[in-house]
Amino acid sequence: MPKLTYLGHAAFIVESSSARFIIDPFLTGNPVATRKAGDVKVDFVLLSHAHGDHLGDAIAIAKANDATVIAANELALYCGSKGAKVHPLHIGGGFSFPFGRVKLTIAHHGSVTDDGTYGGEPAGILLTVDGKTLYHSGDTGLFLDMQLIGEMNKIDVALLPIGDNYTMGIVDAVRAAELLKPGFVIPMHYNTWDVIKADPDDFIRRIRAKGIQGQVVPVDGSYQY
Ligand code: NI
Ligand code: MN
Repeated sequence: MPKLTYLGHAAFIVESSSARFIIDPFLTGNPVATRKAGDVKVDFVLLSHAHGDHLGDAIAIAKANDATVIAANELALYCGSKGAKVHPLHIGGGFSFPFGRVKLTIAHHGSVTDDGTYGGEPAGILLTVDGKTLYHSGDTGLFLDMQLIGEMNKIDVALLPIGDNYTMGIVDAVRAAELLKPGFVIPMHYNTWDVIKADPDDFIRRIRAKGIQGQVVPVDGSYQY
């Protein structure tokens, strides 16, 4: 059973029976994160896109842990140019690793690093470990192809942004959950700053009203799936 731990914003650690992952490790400068990048112990770093609140401490964590960054080609090559081990993928492509499978999906957003380097297309991430599939949508607006992603993948847990402004807000994220039909939904990308203030309990009430399970996972809280 994989264990998911929320680090705040869009950052999560996933621990499976054979590997440890960190997704979008924005810790340094993250007003809600308590964990320090230097304390993170992982084997892989998964990135949805290049924005600073997602790329975050990825390169430092990858180098300190001799971990491999898995991301869209342009962003992976950027991390590689800074000395990280990388495995580039691209949208619609997946790869079966010894630990399981990673596939990138579309996401409607942008992707540029803080130094202005183009990060390729932004992505969502399907991570399958121990026979369970996690969908981290990345930063995205609502899109109808979420229905296809849900039809083609039995999603056990979906991590969906609800903060509005840069991504889906609550109303759109509820619709996303209806399209994806995941077994469980956890909200992300809210309350890091005032501009993405949202009530996660309101989101959970609304998805439960649609017959979808989910829960708010607090920062440093975990969920086993
Ligand atoms: Ni972004
Ligand atoms: Mn973001």
